[in-house]
Amino acid sequence: MKTITPTPALEQLEKLAAAHKPGYTLDNTFYQSPEVFARDVERIFMRTWLYVGHVSQIPASGDYFLFDIAAESVIIVRDEDGAVHSLANVCRHRGSRVCREASGNTNTFVCGYHGWVYSLNGELRSRRFMADDFEPFRFGLKRLKTHVFHGLIFINLSAEPSDFEAETAPLSTLLEPLQLERTKVAARTNYPVAANWKLALENYLECYHCSPAHPEYARIHALRLPEPQLRVLREEFRAKPNPNGLSNEHLETGYEADSDVTRIYYLRSPLSGDALSGSEDGKPLAPLLGRLVEHDGGSIDVSIGLVTYLLVYTDHAVVYRFTPRDVQTSDMEVTWLVRDDAEEGVDYELERLTWMWDVTSKADKRIINDNQAGVNSRFYEPGPFSEMESSPRDFAQWYLRTLCTP
Ligand code: FES
Ligand SMILES: [Fe+2]
Repeated sequence: MKTITPTPALEQLEKLAAAHKPGYTLDNTFYQSPEVFARDVERIFMRTWLYVGHVSQIPASGDYFLFDIAAESVIIVRDEDGAVHSLANVCRHRGSRVCREASGNTNTFVCGYHGWVYSLNGELRSRRFMADDFEPFRFGLKRLKTHVFHGLIFINLSAEPSDFEAETAPLSTLLEPLQLERTKVAARTNYPVAANWKLALENYLECYHCSPAHPEYARIHALRLPEPQLRVLREEFRAKPNPNGLSNEHLETGYEADSDVTRIYYLRSPLSGDALSGSEDGKPLAPLLGRLVEHDGGSIDVSIGLVTYLLVYTDHAVVYRFTPRDVQTSDMEVTWLVRDDAEEGVDYELERLTWMWDVTSKADKRIINDNQAGVNSRFYEPGPFSEMESSPRDFAQWYLRTLCTP
């Protein structure tokens, strides 16, 4: 979104939210209005922690990539000391974008307008013909709050973000055996959807659609089942030996929590039958992650914040990232992580590795697009969520409350 749209008055939003029937989907205004979208960006995306990429994308000093959202562009860069910084891509002279390439390697960032030069940590290193009393230390690129969590880089565009470290500490302990910081990006694909970001997210949050829409996924994952059946399978799974020492705890920051608190979710589930990984045939795909010792037939669903989701198998992880682009365009980026010492063609085949979530994401793209098309109709009216859709149901309540909170 590059245009500036006026944010609607709070009273208007409150009226719309008050008309919502709990347990039902949202009114289509929330998926269509540029004013609501502007509010979504300001109230949610400029305040929540956002996953931007993996440390393996910038292994060396001077490696960088850009992360764009709404009117903002952020340079994610590794400096000479190995630290990862997020710098607002806005020159402190007259505001030009400083970095124009989506990714690369550099020693400095040189603004293309009047040639101000910034170092990798954002400090202003040189400028031409400025007055004698010019104080360069006051004009470094603005640094955003950044956290590297198990190799995943998170940033926050707010000046006073929530306490990411404290909020994710319980999850951090549970992820420890997986050593995700010792993985690398094997593949990364964007599946842009012609839909509001909430429709893309709501689709990810439920598996009611898994059986009809994802036959490939449904064959391998028990998550397609309704909760009572799934609970029995989980109990059986938990009774088995657990040589990997992975936790069976269910960790969740509910949607009733404060809007700005980083949501976390962790739940380990069995795969279907004798499947060992998220592959076409259920067979393993890559070397075991971290300190794991065997393919245990389980997988772990993880959320970190509102729009970042991980599905961790014993031999690879899949990261989902949702980014709003405009009212009815969103990016759904999928990243496949494997052990950092795994060699393509030797330890894993890229096509086999990406098969499951490529075919599943393509199907998701289709159903999300169809959903938005129908929601845009004059004949759309909010419909009832099923029991298997408790997460999008609770998200809808969270969303309305958040939108109406100053
Ligand atoms: S705007 Fe960057 S040097 Fe002038
Ligand atoms: Fe799906």
